[in-house]
Amino acid sequence: MLSEQSAPVIRATLSAVGAAIGEIAERFYGRLFDEHPELLRDLFNRGNQANGEQQKALAGSIAAFAGMLLEDPTARPDAMLGRIAHKHASLGIAPDQYELVRRHLFAAIGDVLGDAVTAEMAAAWDEVYWLMANALIAVESRLYRASERAGGQAWRPSEITERREETADTVSFTLRPTDGRPAESFRPGQYVSVRVPLADGARQIRQYSLSRAPGGPQWRITVKHVRGGAAPEGEVSSWLHRHARVGDVLDVSAPFGDLALVDGEGPLLLVSAGIGGTPMLSMLDHLAAQGAGRAVTVVHADRSPAAHAHREEQLRLVGALPNAALHLWYEEGAERVPGASAGRADVGALDLPEGLTAYLCGPLPFMRAVRGDLLRAGVPARSVHYEVFGPDLWLGHA
Ligand SMILES: Cc1cc2nc3c(=O)[nH]c(=O)nc-3n(C[C@H](O)[C@H](O)[C@H](O)COP(=O)(O)OP(=O)(O)OC[C@H]3O[C@@H](n4cnc5c(N)ncnc54)[C@H](O)[C@@H]3O)c2cc1C
Ligand code: HEM
Repeated sequence: MLSEQSAPVIRATLSAVGAAIGEIAERFYGRLFDEHPELLRDLFNRGNQANGEQQKALAGSIAAFAGMLLEDPTARPDAMLGRIAHKHASLGIAPDQYELVRRHLFAAIGDVLGDAVTAEMAAAWDEVYWLMANALIAVESRLYRASERAGGQAWRPSEITERREETADTVSFTLRPTDGRPAESFRPGQYVSVRVPLADGARQIRQYSLSRAPGGPQWRITVKHVRGGAAPEGEVSSWLHRHARVGDVLDVSAPFGDLALVDGEGPLLLVSAGIGGTPMLSMLDHLAAQGAGRAVTVVHADRSPAAHAHREEQLRLVGALPNAALHLWYEEGAERVPGASAGRADVGALDLPEGLTAYLCGPLPFMRAVRGDLLRAGVPARSVHYEVFGPDLWLGHA
């Protein structure tokens, strides 16, 4: 809870800090990585640093948190904190790292705002920082305790038992832990972090949604190759496509993620685009394994039928559910698939059941459009859940 003495100081300085927060975040990462280059090499995503997305996510979350505290000093924005904490837990972030981050963040605030930072202001922002940090540490330790991994082990070596080229750009890997115990269970929609050794000695980490139902002895992930063009090609997806073979061992985290199917009877809407179909496959596989009778509307948009990863599997799973319908949209080649539509997905045109819960995954502009359609159709915002395959720039805004 924000104290009475700090609230007016935060209110008076929020706009100045908010206006400078992008620059502060950039300075913060510069300082952090100057002192600890190993964090950029082996923990943070170098691509997201280069394109500035992680700076935006950090800055946005702190500004949103401070704004929420001013509206309600007792506020605990659980959805936002949960999203960050799940990501942190999948990376093995430890409580003692928060002091390191605090030190560099406050040094960066000093660099950018200079003499404008009074002792009173520094104390008030320190309080905001620790309210957020302690809330994150608490959620993260709950997640670590709930995970089945003994002694806080972050990485579990897992052998690739199958590699399948799903489309020209996507490949799936089936993974079996090498310690002889089955893969942990998870909730459909969750992801794991995967750490790979790159040619320059760095070990970079990325998240991949589990694309099959929980409960099996092995996991499966499906990886899209992020090809180069105007921007460099993706480091980890390219490495996995080029180098990862059956018999190789990858470091894999425990499953985490706050986009997770909630069991129940109510109608479901699963909306995905491109590689965003992976968490939905796990949900569908789980529903089919349960023989779920609930109404399920599945919407998937893709570039073309040939680019649509796991198309046959998706058709089979929807076909196995007694009360499910599939709506496909393709930018090209829709005429080759019976029932598919051409162009961009139009969820607003569907006859949606009352009381549905929606799960969305795909590029941000796609999800923004779908979410807008759903809200206009009367679906309450609390019933719309989403996953972003990158730093969540929607945090605190959705
Ligand atoms: C919860 C979650 C689940 C996910 N699930 C899946 C999944 O199931 N399947 C899947 O394929 N992916 C998934 N992802 C995405 C995945 O984690 C990776 O982000 C993706 O594979 C790209 O990683 P990369 O290392 O190949 O690209 P990166 O190296 O991380 O590059 C990312 C982007 O940054 C750009 N970039 C890099 N350097 C620069 C530069 N100097 N200037 C400008 N731009 C630059 C690249 O061009 C690229 O577009 C998921 C992500 C999250 C967060
Ligand atoms: C109050 C303190 C902190 C805040 C507000 C914060 C905020 C965030 C946010 C908003 C994200 C993006 C989450 C997403 O979109 O999924 C993130 C990711 C991340 N955080 Fe934190 N964080 C904090 C502390 C820490 C600490 C102590 C560490 C450890 C050094 C850390 C390491 C990371 C890493 C490695 C990522 C993923 C980066 C990437 O993949 O590009 N964070 N954090």
